[in-house]
Amino acid sequence: MEPVEINAGVYYLRQLRADDLLDDRPALIEAFADADHQRFVLNYRLRNTGEADRYIARRAAEWARGERCSWAVAEPVTGRLLGEVGLKDLDRASGTAEATIWVHPAERRRGVAVTAVNAAVRFGTDALGLREVAYLYHEGNDASAAVARRCGFRFVDTLVSPDGRKLLRCLRSTR
Ligand SMILES: CC(C)(COP(=O)(O)OP(=O)(O)OC[C@H]1O[C@@H](n2cnc3c(N)ncnc32)[C@H](O)[C@@H]1OP(=O)(O)O)[C@@H](O)C(=O)NCCC(=O)NCCS
Repeated sequence: MEPVEINAGVYYLRQLRADDLLDDRPALIEAFADADHQRFVLNYRLRNTGEADRYIARRAAEWARGERCSWAVAEPVTGRLLGEVGLKDLDRASGTAEATIWVHPAERRRGVAVTAVNAAVRFGTDALGLREVAYLYHEGNDASAAVARRCGFRFVDTLVSPDGRKLLRCLRSTR
């Protein structure tokens, strides 16, 4: 799948970049160093430019394979990276995916997550034809619980994450 950009109103969603015009790597490294980010976003370590390069390349490959749509949430004039939103475990045959979100610690509590998740889910519905999008968050992640609520996800059940913590699974039906 070709990466697409989304105009989400006060923000725009674009592919992660590391080039002469826009270099997301410093902001990525800062965000992944944050304690809450490390507590609630598992599976990735991004400590240096090389790891950031590999992360950006991985996201581009996932787009190409149609496995995951991912976007940098960007400030509309400068293009500065504020966070990342995605639709992972994309299954267009069954019409399902899981929404993911993180926001740079300096950019939180301004509505970035709610705006970005709503835009990503709308893309999933209108452009990809998804019928149901999931959203999972760890017990105790109050900010993420608020995002789920504000974006219209309803709680369905509790799972156990690979590290043994409780994961609350929510769904938003799109039809
Ligand atoms: C969760 C996260 C993405 C929220 O991003 P954000 O841009 O600050 O969220 P928003 O500004 O859109 O706020 C959404 C809601 O969360 C609430 N909220 C934000 N931070 C909060 C906090 N620390 N505690 C309680 N509520 C919080 C806001 O008040 C808002 O609710 P409201 O509109 O009812 O007042 C961000 O805190 C983050 O990146 N955390 C670390 C990574 C993470 O947990 N990712 C999610 C994994 S499931």
